[in-house]
Amino acid sequence: MTNTLKKLNPEFNHVLQSFSDLAVGSGIKIYLVGGAVRDLCLCRKTFDLDIVVEGDAIKFVHTFCERNKKKFKKHHVFGTATIYFDDFHVDFVTARRETYAFSGALPKVKPASLKEDLFRRDFTINAMAISLNKEDYGLLVDFYGGRKDLENGLIRVLHEKSFMDDPTRILRAVRFEQRFSFKIESVTLELLHKAIMQEAFSFVNAHRLRDELISILKESKPYKYLVRLFRLKALFFINRSLKINKKDALLFARLDKGIYFYEKEFEAHRKLEEYILYLTAILIKFPRKDAASFLERFGFKKGDKMRILSIYDNLISAKTLTKKTLPHKIFQFLNPFSFESVVFFYAYYPDKEIRRHINFFLSNLSVVRLKLKGHDLKQMGFAPLTLYGKLFEKLLHAKMDKGFESIDDEIKEARAIFRKLSA
Ligand code: CTP
Repeated sequence: MTNTLKKLNPEFNHVLQSFSDLAVGSGIKIYLVGGAVRDLCLCRKTFDLDIVVEGDAIKFVHTFCERNKKKFKKHHVFGTATIYFDDFHVDFVTARRETYAFSGALPKVKPASLKEDLFRRDFTINAMAISLNKEDYGLLVDFYGGRKDLENGLIRVLHEKSFMDDPTRILRAVRFEQRFSFKIESVTLELLHKAIMQEAFSFVNAHRLRDELISILKESKPYKYLVRLFRLKALFFINRSLKINKKDALLFARLDKGIYFYEKEFEAHRKLEEYILYLTAILIKFPRKDAASFLERFGFKKGDKMRILSIYDNLISAKTLTKKTLPHKIFQFLNPFSFESVVFFYAYYPDKEIRRHINFFLSNLSVVRLKLKGHDLKQMGFAPLTLYGKLFEKLLHAKMDKGFESIDDEIKEARAIFRKLSA
């Protein structure tokens, strides 16, 4: 298993080795756990490192950061701490046992052994560890059969109260099942059905459900995840009347294509928050007020809410982009929107003309800049200053419609606009 750790990138290996050195010196045991171990066994790339400390995790992190001049954050209530490296962070937790006072409650935690810590976790495939201790560095610790379940492609809970203790695991089960093309093991599936029937979702904090929903929508091509959840009746928490049907398959496929097209063709633009588009595709099925109240209740960020609702409010007017629309009118319509909204319009309307306009906006209009600056106007004796804003706007629009390139064209046009404005 020593080789398994070697599959990690050199930077991760280096930090794990330095944690290991400190652990030996401090006389405590530490283990790599969770998703990183699972991904290593599957030979998949891993992005996060989670470490369990059999001992005081906060003290360990504190000492490490003091010696290595690193930044960290600690959460005393949970016995956890995070160290920040340049391109990644590492989460530490004190090995613990969890008890839930009621379904969906935040757990009460007590320090415990690694074995107990792994037992509190969601699925066997996420409940393995790799030792980072000198005597058996790199050894896989697998108390609950995670390795075998990985080989057989099974998602299995560790105990029968798992979904009721933490109903967000219903969403997580489907997420891992679909991501890895695994199966939810039969007893686990029964427990999952039972938890849904017992309305487990109604006991969980809405923000935790929101975060899991976002994680699902951040997976590649999330439509199949949603279909599976819908069939399991696990999407009612969004809206009782939500249905995912064939018509959605088409919109989701067009969104996949639209996102791919945007990322490929417009690399210079910022990356899309893709989940916003997929979430809109779900919410667009409901009246605006229901979508707004969902976003409010689940505590979505203000910016997300605004982006989603602005798609609602302008979906119909996007249809007014026709063959005759002048470039500056296309710009005026599309420019106030986020790129997520623009790509949503692109995917929503298969109409060639609308798509051509959006393509033109992204590739051309959104990056048109004037060569002429305020100080040029001043030098040329244009006055008063109060007209500059209006002049630049009209000049930009004229540049879009007429496509002129040189500064001389801009100056000529500026003179004409200025004459009209001051007439
Ligand atoms: N975990 C859990 N129950 C949850 C959430 C997390 O038991 N509701 C445990 C699992 O052991 C999981 C680990 O905490 O592996 C880390 O959680 P997270 O980062 O959310 O998941 P990963 O398994 O790392 O998955 P991903 O690849 O999506 O990051």
